[in-house]
Amino acid sequence: MKITIAPRARIQGKPQIPGDKSISHRAQLFGALAEGVTTITGLSGGGDVRSTGKCLADLGVKIEAMKDGVTQIHGVGLRGFQAPKRPLDCGNSGSTMRIFMGFLAGQNFSSELVGDASLSQRPMARVADPLSRMGAKFEMTNGSFAPLWVRGQGRLEPMDYELKVASAQVKSAILLAALYAQGKTTIRGEIHSRDHTERLLPFFGVPVEVSADAITIEGGRALKANAISVPGDPSSAAFWLGAALVARESKVTIEKLLLNPTRIGAMNVLRRMGAELEMKTETEFPEPVGTVTIRRSALRGTMISADEVPSLIDELPLLAVLATYAEGVTEVRGAEELRVKETDRIDAVAENLRRMGATVETFPDGFRIKGPQPLRGAVLDSFHDHRIAMAFSIAGLGATGVTEIENADSVEISYPTFFDTLDELSR
Ligand code: S3P
Repeated sequence: MKITIAPRARIQGKPQIPGDKSISHRAQLFGALAEGVTTITGLSGGGDVRSTGKCLADLGVKIEAMKDGVTQIHGVGLRGFQAPKRPLDCGNSGSTMRIFMGFLAGQNFSSELVGDASLSQRPMARVADPLSRMGAKFEMTNGSFAPLWVRGQGRLEPMDYELKVASAQVKSAILLAALYAQGKTTIRGEIHSRDHTERLLPFFGVPVEVSADAITIEGGRALKANAISVPGDPSSAAFWLGAALVARESKVTIEKLLLNPTRIGAMNVLRRMGAELEMKTETEFPEPVGTVTIRRSALRGTMISADEVPSLIDELPLLAVLATYAEGVTEVRGAEELRVKETDRIDAVAENLRRMGATVETFPDGFRIKGPQPLRGAVLDSFHDHRIAMAFSIAGLGATGVTEIENADSVEISYPTFFDTLDELSR
């Protein structure tokens, strides 16, 4: 699908944001691993989260859509899954494939995991390597890719592991594998990525010890069903914050938004760039949730380095677009992970910005943009990546002339109603 974006002067309102994608995956999966019936309110309806649901259904988990947006998961416990009769299709979802590798490694059966063309090019050895130290067995295409087989070993060994990549997907896979190991598993090193698994396992009754430099979990503990309400996804909300910053006349308020400190890096950066952004946390448990308001503001460039990257990794394509509106240089470094997302997001951002007439310098681990640079409408591509489609829709709002984005239907992965909400806000 190709979408046409005309410049808009006004962005105003209170958009409805889909449930957080990371929490939605975990709520379904932990509900399945638990004993009893878990109710989830506000589950994301995006393609990735549906992939997790379909894979769980193929493992024998009953998932029911109730009224008023409530989903019920009939938990089967750590050992109640059925061997899948067909390959588990993770679609475009890296979180599904990587996190499933963790708990599937501890089952008494084998599973095949497959994904779409993009997911089949994303590295999986980063999960298989640490899990192999626990006794897990995998067979992967060309050593690191899907289609891949998880040869369930029934029981795994605990370990003390130094994590090398700041990835919540890898960290979560290890924590789930650790449930199938006798004794304590500890993860050290790059542990400061999003911490939803560490927060939600205790919410489902399994203690996790978290200190400044280590995460420890003891195996063999059963999860207990719970009721969870999924807050709005800050990585989806970020596009409306961006829209408010590029439109001339704007005020956007977002309620019931996830404000977990490991997820609000982009909001902190926008404030540093000069955005008039208010953030108010209203409830804290099991995840911080609150309200954010933003108004049109003049922006200045900023430096984003490795330690900040995990807290805003999914927002970097949008921040690149906003850098063209900011006065001065914006430079992002230590973000080599962008090259192994749904597409190579450094190249995709640079290619689209250049098509809009901007100058961008790229590095293996980031980019440098000197602003302000007026953008002009152009024919762009999402490269089948939802975040690229949405970031460049925002670019189009402030450009001169009309922007067309090919393969814009990729927004369906995390934000199926994105273009409807864009129309509502600019009415
Ligand atoms: C996610 C973790 C991040 C993020 C992805 C969702 C998660 O990936 O980019 O959209 O739910 O754990 P990495 O953990 O690989 O950085």
